[in-house]
Amino acid sequence: MTGADPDPRVGVVVVAAGSGTRLGAAQPKALVRVGGRRILEHAVCGALAVRFVRQVVVVAPAAYVAELSADVPGWEGSPAPSPRPLHPAGVPDPPAPVLGEPGGRVRVVPGGAERTDSVRAGLAALGPDIDIVLIHDAARCLTPTSVYDRVIAAVAAGHEAVVPGLAVVDTMKVVDAEGTVIATPERSRVRAIQTPQGFSRAAITSAHASGLAATDDAGLAEENGRPVRVVDGDPLAFKVTTPDDLERAERLLRTPTLWVIGGLPGTGKTTLSRRLAAFEDATLVRVDSIEQALTTDLDLEHPGTTGYAIAYAVAADQLRLGRSVVADLVNPLPQTRVALRQIAEQAGAGICEIRLVCSDATEHRRRIEGRLADIPGYVLPDWRDVTERLFVAWPEARVIDTAGRTPEQVFRVLRDGP
Ligand code: CTP
Ligand code: MG
Repeated sequence: MTGADPDPRVGVVVVAAGSGTRLGAAQPKALVRVGGRRILEHAVCGALAVRFVRQVVVVAPAAYVAELSADVPGWEGSPAPSPRPLHPAGVPDPPAPVLGEPGGRVRVVPGGAERTDSVRAGLAALGPDIDIVLIHDAARCLTPTSVYDRVIAAVAAGHEAVVPGLAVVDTMKVVDAEGTVIATPERSRVRAIQTPQGFSRAAITSAHASGLAATDDAGLAEENGRPVRVVDGDPLAFKVTTPDDLERAERLLRTPTLWVIGGLPGTGKTTLSRRLAAFEDATLVRVDSIEQALTTDLDLEHPGTTGYAIAYAVAADQLRLGRSVVADLVNPLPQTRVALRQIAEQAGAGICEIRLVCSDATEHRRRIEGRLADIPGYVLPDWRDVTERLFVAWPEARVIDTAGRTPEQVFRVLRDGP
């Protein structure tokens, strides 16, 4: 291989013309919304955010070309284009070529009956300056930029055909039409192939001109006798195919939320917090557990605000990872509430403040006097502690009354709204 091209001109064909039979939605798959935006928008914005990408050709179901073209070049919510490649000092960046719709890098064309037909339509719409072509399934709408980068780098380094692939965990078998096993490839040598698949323009043009058929574009290049190189794929480049996949994508796109579940002892915070954490797949941060560890392990008689400080730190780490947090704490003072809001804001997370109350004093007292500690060594507050406890008004919180409600009913009130 000779030296890599330092400034490749990359065009991405995003194929989105399938019907999405297995997803079973009322519309074609690429138009289905996930995380508030269409699958196609995620895919196009992902491609536009990649360095060296000059043009994106969307191959859409024929009936939707006009509607989607109206979105171009806006692609509302698309991130700012990635920085242009660096040029030697004093040499201005070349202007981005304007193709298709005025001012935009995105162009929409109608697809065909088979995926291969759609790819061919996309290739025909690429501008003349493009020398590296990426072909990408819109359905792989959460593909990270790093996958594109690896594919582009390998093509720019001289590999004519490059595909991202993942090692497989299951053993693979090749079977005949009756289902009899013909061969068992050695698992360590098998890769599950994803997109974007990258090609030199000459390689993909001649592969498609050959009129051969294959289920992916690299397959065409292979049949043409061209070597195909595999680079690392990414689990996030999974293809949205079934309703389960859509749910997975939805979960991945969800902004993390800090759920603050506050209120006096005996109002049902821990029960609700556990249920909510399981439902939201969130991390439970329970201040009682932290404080108990401080008093036993560190022999602190009064942990003061240390338990809260630890809870804040743990919650902040989780939120920054993109994980939602359910914070189970009394949260009696404005200072603690302000601190929690700051943590959510700094992590770019949402916040949901819930105050549990028990409006029936008899029931509340019965709960306080009837319960057993579930944290070893934890001394439960008695009724007097509860009634004398300072709890400053908390107007920002949504109040949920747990009196006369089962834990499941309380959870439903929280989930289904007031
Ligand atoms: N595709 C296309 N034109 C076709 C068929 C498929 O552009 N005639 C695109 C799809 O829109 C998708 C990608 O190729 O982005 C991968 O195909 P697949 O996931 O199989 O999508 P569908 O064919 O739409 O789904 P299904 O097979 O469940 O009907
Ligand atoms: Mg299909």
